[in-house]
Amino acid sequence: MKKILITGGAGFIGSHVVRRFVNKYPEYQIFNLDALTYAGNLENIKDIENQSNYTFVKGNIVDESFINELFSLHNFDGILHLAAESHVDRSIEDPLAFVKTNVIGTMNLLNAAKNQWKNNFEAKRFYHISTDEVYGSLGAEGLFTETTSYDPNSPYSASKASSDHFVRAYGETYGLPYVLTNCSNNYGSYHFPEKLIPLFINNIINNKPLPVYGDGNYTRDWLFVEDHAIAIDLVFHEGKNHETYNIGGFNEWKNIDLVKLLCQIMDEKLGRSQGTSQELITYVKDRPGHDLRYAIDASKINKELGWKPSVTFEEGLEKTINWYLNNEEWLQNVTSGSYKDYYQKQYS
Ligand code: NAD
Ligand code: DAU
Repeated sequence: MKKILITGGAGFIGSHVVRRFVNKYPEYQIFNLDALTYAGNLENIKDIENQSNYTFVKGNIVDESFINELFSLHNFDGILHLAAESHVDRSIEDPLAFVKTNVIGTMNLLNAAKNQWKNNFEAKRFYHISTDEVYGSLGAEGLFTETTSYDPNSPYSASKASSDHFVRAYGETYGLPYVLTNCSNNYGSYHFPEKLIPLFINNIINNKPLPVYGDGNYTRDWLFVEDHAIAIDLVFHEGKNHETYNIGGFNEWKNIDLVKLLCQIMDEKLGRSQGTSQELITYVKDRPGHDLRYAIDASKINKELGWKPSVTFEEGLEKTINWYLNNEEWLQNVTSGSYKDYYQKQYS
């Protein structure tokens, strides 16, 4: 049985990846390593927690001796590394936390993998899940490709760029077999309501202001999280060693247009008259260093691995909004903070 380590599996994207791997690959023993920071929520994966091929490990990737001990207990065949500090606004408040987890934490995993696998890399793989934000900002035209130069602008993207570089360097210097993906903005279920889409859905439900940064004319390329999990599965199994793949939705939206669409759909769903939620839009001070536009050219993963998004944005958004409306308890537990008690109840 192959042992696969997934880090950050209690977070947004990680929970979708863990669920997919546990359900689809009974022949793998899946270890989900997560520190359960504010962003880690075991309620995200409670549907698979009792499956026999799943083990949860609470621990911090910044803690080198803990990581070395974990690797002395288990010989991992593959590592999918998603654990990270992921929110740009928080990185502006506390950049060092991002260096610790995203750079030092990644280094600890790289070292542990290199030491465990020594030079026997047959059928081993280190997969770093990264972001399109490492490429910086686009102007009105063009798309990020795998050869676009790195030009990160926020402490978050600088820390992810740094960890990408270390992953590549370990491939070049020590021959570590790695794959790397840079993905655009995800949306979907189990998304912590500090990011644009879940925050605004929650605020609309609760009649709270919708804080649009600056003039709202910033563009993001949105991808349904389950399509990202499918792409991750594909790259992990079929991607070429030492290659990078860009993943995106071919789905650009200006923030203000997306927010208006959300308001319109939410008014319909909540039985409010059209225009009610739009009145909640409040223009606020801009994010410092705010990147104008992200957009991914995902043709390499499409041509080489046959991946493309399986749902349209309309379908994905419909599924997402329905999920938040049908999972009020999850939202309430997250916003009240009671989701933090879940680990204590289940594992202690
Ligand atoms: P998230 O913030 O929802 O989840 C991060 C998870 O990592 C949490 O469960 C948290 O507890 C855990 N974690 C944080 N610090 C840790 C530490 N020191 N040790 C162990 N665990 C720790 O993040 P997400 O949005 O699911 O993103 C997952 C990965 O995908 C990140 O690497 C992020 O950079 C990347 N990514 C995210 C997006 C997006 O749109 N959300 C897009 C592209 C790439
Ligand atoms: O592009 C991939 C990245 O997407 C990931 O690497 C990050 O982990 C993820 O958080 C996301 O980063 P963004 O900064 O693009 O996502 P966020 O949801 O924070 O913001 C999306 C856009 O909406 C951005 O232009 C800022 C704006 N915004 C955001 C918030 C939270 C607002 O106008 N108001 C808000 O309250």
